[in-house]
Formats: sequence, C-alpha cells, structure tokens
Amino acid sequence: MRAASIWVVVFWMAICSGWAQETNVAQTARKGHDLAAIICANCHVAAADQRFMPVLNPPAPSFETIAQRPDTNADSLQKFMTTTHRGLDHPKGMPNPYLADYQITQVVAYILSLRK
Ligand code: HEC
Repeated sequence: MRAASIWVVVFWMAICSGWAQETNVAQTARKGHDLAAIICANCHVAAADQRFMPVLNPPAPSFETIAQRPDTNADSLQKFMTTTHRGLDHPKGMPNPYLADYQITQVVAYILSLRK
C-alpha cells in the first residue's frame, strides 16, 4: 500500500515537471516573438502580427520560411545570430544583431516554434 502511494507521488511529480517545462518553452518562445517583432521586423517578416512591414526591400527571408528549412536547428540559428554576414564583399548581408545570450535563446525558441 505504502509503495503504491509513493509511486502515485512520483508519477504525479513527473507529470507536473513535464507540464512546467512545456509552459517554459512556450513562454520563452513568446518572449522571442516580442523581441523579433521589434528588432528583426525591420528587415524580416518576423511575425504574422508584426505592426509594420519590413523597410528592407526586398525583405530578408521570413522567419516562417527559415523555420521550415530542413537544415535549420537551434545550433545553426545561434551561430548565424552571433556572427556578421555583412562586409565589403557582401554589403547586403545581415549585420550582427548583438543580442544577449538569453535573447538569442528566446528568438531561437520562437523561430523553431514556427516549424510546421
Ligand atoms: C538590417 C537588416 C536585418 C535585421 C535587423 C535582421 N536581419 Fe536577419 N537577415 C538579413 C538579411 C539581408 C539576411 C539574408 C542572409 C544574409 O545575411 O546573407 C538575413 C538572414 C537571416 C537568417 C538566415 C536565413 C538563411 O538564409 O539561412 C536568420 C536566421 C536571421 N536573419 C535571423 C534574424 C534575427 C533573429 C534577427 C533579429 C534579432 C534578424 N535576423 C535581424 C537582414 C537582417
């Protein structure tokens, strides 16, 4: 009897921690969405509900498109965002957005959440 109730508690804790992790990921992605709609939306269609269309013409690839690419993953996004792709040889490349690590985590979670 006692062993059975311990298992019930263990099982319950496992369910709760899984649920907490899921809401955590959703919250992180939500923050990434808000950040992207402010910082990245000047050049990308970063979110379907962004208030203004990008000023960059033609715009950089939309985040939805980037999310669907088979070679897009947390690592590739993180690497891309921590480097500069603009230079004399590539004047239209993306400048380094200089995000803090936690902001990169949020934006990466957001972009990956757009994967269908
Ligand atoms: C000043 C304009 C500009 C801003 C602001 C900008 N980007 Fe970009 N981004 C570009 C351009 C242009 C490209 C096209 C690829 C390149 O750099 O050669 C690009 C490409 C990308 C790619 C890779 C797409 C691919 O083809 O693989 C990712 C990921 C990305 N941007 C994420 C972001 C995120 C996240 C932000 C906001 C934190 C952001 N960008 C802000 C201009 C911008």
